This record gives sequence, structure tokens and C-alpha cells, in this order.
Amino acid sequence: MTIIVTGGAGFIGSNFIFHMLKAYPEYRIVCLDKLTYAGNLSTLAPVADNKNFRFVKADICDRTAVFKLFEEEKPDVIVNFAAESHVDRSIEDPEIFLRTNILGTAVLMDACRKYGIKRYHQVSTDEVYGDLPLDRPDMFFTETMPLHTSSPYSSSKASADLLVLAYHRTYGLPVTISRCSNNYGPYHFPEKLIPLMIANALNDKPLPVYGNGENVRDWLYVEDHCKAIDLIIHKGREGEVYNVGGHNEMRNIDIVKLVCKELGKPESLITYVADRKGHDMRYAIDPTKIHNELGWLPETKFADGIKKTVKWYLENRAWWETIISGEYQNYYEKMYGSR
Ligand code: NAD
Ligand code: DAU
Repeated sequence: MTIIVTGGAGFIGSNFIFHMLKAYPEYRIVCLDKLTYAGNLSTLAPVADNKNFRFVKADICDRTAVFKLFEEEKPDVIVNFAAESHVDRSIEDPEIFLRTNILGTAVLMDACRKYGIKRYHQVSTDEVYGDLPLDRPDMFFTETMPLHTSSPYSSSKASADLLVLAYHRTYGLPVTISRCSNNYGPYHFPEKLIPLMIANALNDKPLPVYGNGENVRDWLYVEDHCKAIDLIIHKGREGEVYNVGGHNEMRNIDIVKLVCKELGKPESLITYVADRKGHDMRYAIDPTKIHNELGWLPETKFADGIKKTVKWYLENRAWWETIISGEYQNYYEKMYGSR
């Protein structure tokens, strides 16, 4: 079995590669990644010497490079993590989101059509459903809900999902889609809520909470997401969408307070800043389908996962300090300087 994992030098893709090489030592895993600001080759250092692993630097929008890789590797399965993934960046500049997240997905599926594959899996997001009201705790995202997006990022992911389902219906491409809630864990890029708060707290910098901090996200430990995708590519039904989430809803402000507590830092570091434009209020996944059909259940409780995550950031300072010492400084100044 040969699997091409796109975006494997990023947060979830790298965790997925580690999971797959461990769970299936006989599989060949080929990582295709453009190494954008969010991709980090050093993240893949632990598997660089594995004889069943290959890294290829390429853009999923580059048809020639993608088709060449398919010719060389004759993959059985494609798992597409490659994306521009940060909502705030999409609000600043949507275009690259449309290019990578939509056109890139089409290029990958065109290659699948030409060379033939057993499965194309699209890693999507719960953000395609838009948001839920705070005063309706009885409401959850289900796979049959209409897509109703808020940001350029979520719109680009929803567009890709529609294309994936269209390639299934029109060309019979054997596809699956997973729509997961917010992930956290090792190698999470420090522009995102949890690692940003950990890094800032460790540097005694202000902890910028958007709006009133009452927005709710449904957090899942990254390994549990990887295990869900593993199940879907092996046992999921073609043409199906699977929601992935562990009923772990938390308000942003409570997450930030917890990070302070874990690190022994004062809550006085918390600073309320201007809200994100179009900020989604609440995400909450109903994972009944993946549980009933594939037997998936999250294994890591949030209380344990956040401890493991904080420990990882304490033990791997070089990884994130290198990131925040470079171009990231300009990004941070632009996004938070006058917020
Ligand atoms: P990330 O930003 O950490 O990593 C993205 C990776 O894709 C990077 O390695 C980057 O170099 C690569 N990439 C970007 N553009 C590329 C291109 N044109 N060609 C090839 N590679 C390219 O993202 P992440 O948080 O790991 O998210 C991975 C996927 O999971 C995304 O599709 C995202 O929409 C989805 N997702 C993320 C979450 C989350 O909480 N992070 C939750 C649900 C779904
Ligand atoms: O739900 C899945 C999505 O989760 C994925 O599709 C996205 O790729 C991923 O980035 C994530 O999107 P969010 O916008 O929910 O994640 P982020 O970490 O950017 O923000 C989480 C919440 O924290 C959100 O309500 C905004 C808030 N926030 C974020 C940052 C970076 C702050 O209050 N302050 C901050 O500095």
C-alpha cells in the first residue's frame, strides 16, 4: 500500500504520518508538501530515515509535479491535508486560500482520475457548517446539515468538499471526506489559539483573547483525528462524509485560563482585543455516524491531552522558538500590533 499524504509537514499531516508509519510499518508513505510558512521539514526529522518514507517538496496546484509523482509512486490512497488553514490570514488575504484549497484539490483529484486510485480522502473541517448559537446547547453539526460558511477559509474548504462530491458523482472517483473539530497537540503552529497562548505565556507576553472570549470550540487531541482518518480510508464508505469530534466544547477564555494554570502564569496576562471579523460563535460536532459505522471514539480526555501538549511545548522549545523568531514576528506585529 502506497499513500500520498499532502501537507504532511504541517500540524495534523505530520501527526498522521507518525501514526501511519507506526501502525502500518509495511506501508509506503510519501509526503508531498510545498513547505509554506506553516510547513516545517524539521517536524518530519523523526521519520526522515525510515526506508518506507519519502518527502517531496511540491505545490498541489502544480499539475506537472503532481502528475509526475503519481507516475513514479502509483499511489493507492491520497490523503489531502494540504491547505491554507488559518482563518485570520484568510480574512487578510483570501486569494491563496482559493488557489490552494480549491484548485489544489481539483489537481489532486484529476491525477487520481488519470492514474486510478483506491481512495481519495479529503481532510475537511467542521467550519463548513458555519456556527451554532450559544443558547442552543441541544444543537450539533450533523453530516446532513447545509453548508453555511463564514470566512474565506471555510468557504474555500466548503468549495473543495463540493468538488470532491462532484468528482464522485460525475467520474465515480472513490472519495471520502472527514469534517473534524478543532485539533490540539504537538507541532501545532504557534499562530493558533492554544500554542499561541502557551508560547506567549512562557514569554510573559499578553494573551490576546478576541472579543469577550465566550466563543466555543470543540477540542480534539490530534492523534484521535489521525485514528479517525485511518479508519475512514480503510473502512469508510465511498462518497460519504464523516464528522469527527469528541463532545469537548470549551469557551476560549476557559482554555486560556487553563493554559495559565498549567504553566503557573498569572491570569493578568490575559488581554481582550478586537474581535475577529465574522467570528463563529460555537462549533459542536455530532460524531454519531463515525461511531456507529466505524466504531471510532476519542481516546484522549482533554484534561490529559492539554497536559501532554503543554509538556510537549516545554520540551520542544527549539521547534516553536525558531518559528516565532523569524518571519512570524512580522505576522504577529501586523495582526496584533494595533488590535
Ligand atoms: P497547517 O497549516 O499546520 O499545515 C498545512 C500544511 O500544508 C503545511 O505543511 C503547508 O506547507 C502545506 N501546504 C500549504 N499549501 C500547500 C500547497 N499549495 N501544496 C502543498 N502543500 C501545501 O494545517 P493543519 O492545521 O495541519 O490542517 C491540515 C488540514 O486539516 C487542513 O486541510 C485543514 O483545513 C484541516 N483541519 C484542520 C483542523 C485544525 O484544528 N487544525 C481541524 C479540522 C480540519
Ligand atoms: O474547527 C476546525 C478549525 O479549527 C480548522 O478548520 C482551522 O484550520 C483551525 O485553524 C481552527 O480554526 P479556529 O479559527 O477555530 O482556530 P484558532 O486557533 O485560530 O482560534 C480558536 C478560537 O480562539 C477562535 O474562536 C478565535 C480565538 N482566538 C484565536 C487566536 C489565534 C483568540 O481569541 N485569540 C487568538 O490570538
